[in-house]
Amino acid sequence: MYDVHAIRKDFPVLSHVVYLDSTATTQTPVPVVEAMNEYFYEYAGNHGRGAHRLARETTNRYEDAREKVAAFLKAEPSKTIFTKNTSDGINLIANSFPFEAGDQIVTTLIEHHSNLLPWLRLQKAGVEVKIVKPEGPEGLITPESIEAALTDRTKLVAITQVSNVFGSVQDVSKVTKIAHKNGVKLLVDGAQSAGHMPLDLSALNCDFFATAGHKGLLGPQGTGVLYIKEPDLLESASLGGGTVSEVEGLDYVLEPSPACFEAGTPNIPGVIGLGRAIEYIEEIGVSEIEKHETQLSREAAARLSEMEHVEVYGPEKRAGVIPFNVCGLHAHDVALILDQSRKICVRSGHHCAIPSIKFLKVGSTVRASFALYNTEEEIELLIKAISDLKALVA
Ligand SMILES: Cc1ncc(COP(=O)(O)O)c(C=O)c1O
Repeated sequence: MYDVHAIRKDFPVLSHVVYLDSTATTQTPVPVVEAMNEYFYEYAGNHGRGAHRLARETTNRYEDAREKVAAFLKAEPSKTIFTKNTSDGINLIANSFPFEAGDQIVTTLIEHHSNLLPWLRLQKAGVEVKIVKPEGPEGLITPESIEAALTDRTKLVAITQVSNVFGSVQDVSKVTKIAHKNGVKLLVDGAQSAGHMPLDLSALNCDFFATAGHKGLLGPQGTGVLYIKEPDLLESASLGGGTVSEVEGLDYVLEPSPACFEAGTPNIPGVIGLGRAIEYIEEIGVSEIEKHETQLSREAAARLSEMEHVEVYGPEKRAGVIPFNVCGLHAHDVALILDQSRKICVRSGHHCAIPSIKFLKVGSTVRASFALYNTEEEIELLIKAISDLKALVA
């Protein structure tokens, strides 16, 4: 039985706000904060760099976290790299993949800037970027439209699993099969899927999967995860401490993955917190979380759609993300009013996805997004607040 009120006790901040901005970042549960405190108070040392007890304890705990994250994503630990966020993981691939002038990358119009700008930048090196449009305002990309965009020069398809603007869920499994049938690698932006739905990267078989630790995975800010199916195909564009086993004259020998992709001292407390967060999610069950979040968001979206002064975007079968506008009011004004009058925190603006917002032909949207700790009561508060705005626009 899903006990949202018991879960909420682990998130003290929720006692004084209605937090509907989990797509930006989630709140962090107490056991995760405690795990990080324990690192600072009991055994802080550096990772992989010392024989003394604190360094050994730190290394063990950091690698334990890797095992937990990898098992959760059904990936091998040696292919599971810690990054500082989703953007960092995608940039690592963009800067390290052996692209050549004339190669092509296929991506989509609904991407977050983090899964768009790193590819657009490669145009300076002569790489061509092709953008596939969604079918309509629901923000769904058909696998067929991806297939139609592929040529014999395409090296990579980069696509988001769940759109942070539309809340649409893409069939990345089908897109992976299409990409592989054509000899193309596939990168999945999992920023809005990990922790919100069950994932099995071995079954999905994608080549790269980048996600955040600080969103659905309930870890702290400054953590991210990058899965690389064939690490030996890449040499990281970022090298330094911890990445080599030998330096001889002008030559060096890289450590095997994941060490060769994690240059310098990582976010050790953050990663240890992320490991604890994975345990926390598993205690509740990710399928249960998915059920809870989608039920809340679909109910809220349906009720918002009934209001004449509200325009809701995205598909009916959405993830926990609702973009909408109140006719006659700017999204930032709506967000400010909700915050100041009801302590309701929603996001407003272009959501770091300007092409999506332009596609919708709106300057901005309000976005309510849901996580495991949101409740029916909070939906009632949102609905009442938006309903009351009618008096302002009538
Ligand atoms: C779909 C998507 N991709 C990438 C990102 C960037 O994530 P991060 O802030 O972890 O770099 C976000 C952030 O909201 C996102 O929603």
